[in-house]
Amino acid sequence: MNVTEATDFPPSLLEIALFYAEAGVDEAIGDQPVDRTQAPPAREAARPAAVPGQAAAPIPGGNPSANPPPRAPAASAPALLSASDVESAARRAARACQTIPELEAAIKSFEGCGLKATATNTVIARGNPQAPLMIIGEAPGRDEDAQGLPFVGESGQLLDRMLKAIGRDEQNTYISNIIFWRPPGNRDPSTEEILACKPFIERLIELVQPKVIACAGKHAAATLLGTTQGITRTRGRWHEYQREGIGIPAMPLLHPAYLLRQPGVKREAWHDMLELAAKLEQLGL
Ligand code: URA
Repeated sequence: MNVTEATDFPPSLLEIALFYAEAGVDEAIGDQPVDRTQAPPAREAARPAAVPGQAAAPIPGGNPSANPPPRAPAASAPALLSASDVESAARRAARACQTIPELEAAIKSFEGCGLKATATNTVIARGNPQAPLMIIGEAPGRDEDAQGLPFVGESGQLLDRMLKAIGRDEQNTYISNIIFWRPPGNRDPSTEEILACKPFIERLIELVQPKVIACAGKHAAATLLGTTQGITRTRGRWHEYQREGIGIPAMPLLHPAYLLRQPGVKREAWHDMLELAAKLEQLGL
């Protein structure tokens, strides 16, 4: 049913729900903003700490019925973790992992990213971890959150078709994201969320040791390559992913979700895929 065609007023609950679904609103987050700088209520304070020995990090955008708005500040409010505390905890946890399964377990048990509270699944990677090419996108969307795998929705299917066109598939490509939990309503990830996840994607790159990286979208390119210009300026040109003495050729790509919205830029996207193919061929991969 198309709500815009409805003639009855007021609309039924079903019509309202369909209206929101058509507009992409598919998460019930809460009507009232929650001031999480205030001390949590006693029930929430009893949750396990985010980092051993410290208070749990606040959960931005968390479900208010699970985390009711706090009342008056308690006299001895537990210290909230700063973004850099969370990043350091993530870095310690990531460094301790010597294998991809260990790293996956560490990401799944990490409590420092508030997105985990509203996500159904932790979404880490798909494809072959021995592959020479690693594609790194932004964050899981609704389908990825439901299935627990990156790039399996509409944009992922387009990505797969683009890869197939240059002879790549799950056997010779490894696919991940800079963020491991779905941002509610597919909003952009915040700086804090990116910093909380960054040590894990960096460690994943260290363990996988890809020969070529492609960053899909501006957030992945900015986070991993330090690009400050928009993706339409950085795409299609070779950069280098640099970390602790390693340099890996890296290409920012237009995000496939953007290509779905702007089919007119497919020509640029095809150019970039050919660049990727040429680099892999030049390296004998
Ligand atoms: N967009 C992304 O950046 N990653 C996904 O996994 C899905 C959509």
